[in-house]
Amino acid sequence: MKTIRTVSELGIELANARQSGKKIAFVPTMGAIHAGHLSLIEIAKKQSGFVVASIFVNPLQFNSASDFDRYPRNEAADTAALESAGADVLFLPSVEEIYPNGKVNTRSAGPIGDLYEGQARKEHFDGMLTVVARLFEIVSPDVAVFGAKDAQQLFLIRRMLQQEKNSDWGSKLQLVEGPTIRESTGLALSSRNQRLSTSEMQVALSLSEALDKAHKCAASGEGISSALGEAMKVFSSNPEAKLDYLALVNPESFEALEDGFKGQALMIVAAEVGNVRLIDNRLITF
Ligand code: PAF
Repeated sequence: MKTIRTVSELGIELANARQSGKKIAFVPTMGAIHAGHLSLIEIAKKQSGFVVASIFVNPLQFNSASDFDRYPRNEAADTAALESAGADVLFLPSVEEIYPNGKVNTRSAGPIGDLYEGQARKEHFDGMLTVVARLFEIVSPDVAVFGAKDAQQLFLIRRMLQQEKNSDWGSKLQLVEGPTIRESTGLALSSRNQRLSTSEMQVALSLSEALDKAHKCAASGEGISSALGEAMKVFSSNPEAKLDYLALVNPESFEALEDGFKGQALMIVAAEVGNVRLIDNRLITF
């Protein structure tokens, strides 16, 4: 695996790969690589002959400087993990490479970007879309792989791609979704889990438990409000998991669903455990 830090050097590497007939698959990350990221590299390898991973802790998607500073960074361990998973190139740009001379072509996530994760983290999704569009512009991949755990992020990237289907990078780009990888306990893998203590890990199971309860409720023929009620009970009996939101949304529009809905719904949940904000989601059929 080659580690490349500049856009120009990456351009040469990508041109060589394309010249030898290879499709480019891209896995953007912010580092703190875990098994969830490595599963995305596996998917990317099945999709193409040349896999580019990136690590860039994007300052624009953090709403506080302290959250940005606290974000885990471990270049050596991340590089070793991505290499052993079979990535061909690791792109590790500086802020100046991504936003030269401070020039930022800001993307807007629109009203959905202000809901749920966006309500707690103002402008997070604008910053996320801004960097994803910039990385797509630089890499111009054939395939990009994102994890399903960040459901709202994935929804917004998919929508941006639909809007960009006539752009240089948008016309050929195929988005592939990687399933959420979980601990055997059910806890969804996240870079933030490393900040949880052993007892907080137990409390954090409230998120996946709530999703399970809602799923069982729907499977027994109950509707939206009963499923939400069952999931809520998990949080009322575990007050250490401070619930931020719990909602059932239409996966195609991210609009909240009401009783009477039939079809596939996405349950999304966020809670704070200790000082760690966690999210999870699950598709549930009503
Ligand atoms: O999911 C992430 O790690 C980030 O939001 C992403 C997509 C790499 C953009 O910075």
